[in-house]
Amino acid sequence: MVIKMKKFMELISEEMGKAFEAAGYQADLGKVTISNRPDLCEYQCNGAMAGAKQYHKAPLMIANDVAEKLQGNTVFSEVSVVAPGFLNLRVTEKFVKEYLQEMRADAKFGLEMPENPQMIMVDYGGPNIAKPLHVGHLRPAIIGESVKRICRYAGHQVLGDIHLGDWGLQMGLIATELKKRHPELPYFDAAWQGEYPKEPPFTISELEEIYPAASAKSKEDADYKAEAMEATFQLQTGVPGLRALWNHIMAVSVADLKKNYAALDVEFDLWKGESDVQPIIPGMVEKLKKDGYAHESDGALVVDVKEETDTKEIPPCMILKSDGASLYNTTDLATIMDRMDKYQPDKLIYVTDKRQNLYFEQIFRCARKTGLVKPETQLTHIGIGTMNGKDGKPFKTREGGVMRLENLIREINEEMYRKITDNREMEEAEAKETSGIVALSAVKYGDLSNQASKDYIFDIDRFTSFEGDTGPYILYTIVRIKSILKKYKEQNGAASASGQSGNVSELKNDTPLSGLPICEATSASEKDLMLEITKFNTMLEAACEEVAPHKVCAYIYDLANAFNHFYHETKILTEENLEKQSGWIALLTLTRDVLEVCIELLGFSAPERM
Ligand code: ARG
Repeated sequence: MVIKMKKFMELISEEMGKAFEAAGYQADLGKVTISNRPDLCEYQCNGAMAGAKQYHKAPLMIANDVAEKLQGNTVFSEVSVVAPGFLNLRVTEKFVKEYLQEMRADAKFGLEMPENPQMIMVDYGGPNIAKPLHVGHLRPAIIGESVKRICRYAGHQVLGDIHLGDWGLQMGLIATELKKRHPELPYFDAAWQGEYPKEPPFTISELEEIYPAASAKSKEDADYKAEAMEATFQLQTGVPGLRALWNHIMAVSVADLKKNYAALDVEFDLWKGESDVQPIIPGMVEKLKKDGYAHESDGALVVDVKEETDTKEIPPCMILKSDGASLYNTTDLATIMDRMDKYQPDKLIYVTDKRQNLYFEQIFRCARKTGLVKPETQLTHIGIGTMNGKDGKPFKTREGGVMRLENLIREINEEMYRKITDNREMEEAEAKETSGIVALSAVKYGDLSNQASKDYIFDIDRFTSFEGDTGPYILYTIVRIKSILKKYKEQNGAASASGQSGNVSELKNDTPLSGLPICEATSASEKDLMLEITKFNTMLEAACEEVAPHKVCAYIYDLANAFNHFYHETKILTEENLEKQSGWIALLTLTRDVLEVCIELLGFSAPERM
């Protein structure tokens, strides 16, 4: 049984609809929106204007009729009619309090779970084996991870797949270079009958040195390149020595990738790669031919994907090159086939650089046209904008090279460490741990708070600031709440120990504060905070449907601001009215819980202190 908790705006709109109906108008005119004049009211309804034509009445008259029906209503504390017919609204403190209480009792804070959860696969990360991760891999990893978490929280079944680039020329290049350096290795001995060594013939650092060296040579030396292509071909046709070598490259690289992604708190459910679907490519190609979708064009095999309504040229999707070799396209199509077969996804989400927009358009059209997916399967590409440096150009090292991800993270960690230990005593170990946590929030929030498709400027100084729209500011707010809650517990534990406990029953340090009753707001800033919290379910539903983590960032920024405003105006710990005080503690607890769920969805966490 699915328990439904209505959205706050739905509830008020319903109430307004009833008043329209009672006054003799259509209920759906009662749609309420958030006020665009917060100085005048909290919410507004423009239904009287919308209904004027239909009822041949002045909007003002309709609005007055409706307002009259709302006298003494328990939802609205204020209904005022403003020319030409706006209904300006405020809600009662009681109504807000009750909504928050319901939210708090719900495991997902009132987010409605789907009746038919979808099976969603998120394809993100996409690193290439044996090539070190660089800044270009940061955004797909961060955004993809958050998308995965958001969809999962929203009640869907979600699998994240890294889709390794593990089948290309880089493998042949590595084999070729290794053969030059160590021709004696058994992998290169065609007559080898024995077992291949268990230990890889290189470490990750060696591997990372071998690949660029080989790549550089192949660009200057045509014979070298031909050799690498031949090695790639041999690997792909399953020559045992190359296959054994490939296994080593994979093992060493994957271990290193796992370490690097773990440092970013990015976790994949599936570690599949381009190599996994190679066996099914021939069958797929045969089928595309047999069904009449694929035809020859200049020797290559292609599927036409242009449509009549196209305003720009969409080239055909190439399935096989003229030499019969498969391509990046072929592998992605086969992967779709494999996913449909193994997991029956309702939705496939790809998170990659936006320079692949056209590419995915072709792939999606081809998959649809050829029936690789069902007509109702959703195919979504999130094309990501570029991460630029302060000069507005793609982010580079100071020397102008490609920045390795590891180095970037190290730099931010160091900057954060400096900030955190600046004029403050903190144990070395705690400072290290805390700065790691806060640095991750800086990077991830800095990225996620921008719409994915937009380019943005990676600005360490701004991202690591404790003020403004930043990750550290959000964490700072959470830590501030945690600290108040802790002090409150200590205070009350002490009071009850000395026998002076007030009407708040004894609180031990492990007593959950979440059970304290939430009270009606007694100040404007308190009510603002409460109203901000009520938006959670609406926001999260949109973030999931629109695949838009930046909506979570915008929400927690507003929520953190509302909290801090309330905090600055309210002396919580010294409040003498204990009931009022415990109500605030309950509100703080809920604020913290909502903030913590949100940052978890963005892929970072908060420390205990900072
Ligand atoms: N490995 C690819 C690259 O480096 C990215 C893979 C993106 N995912 C996909 N299914 N094509 O460009």
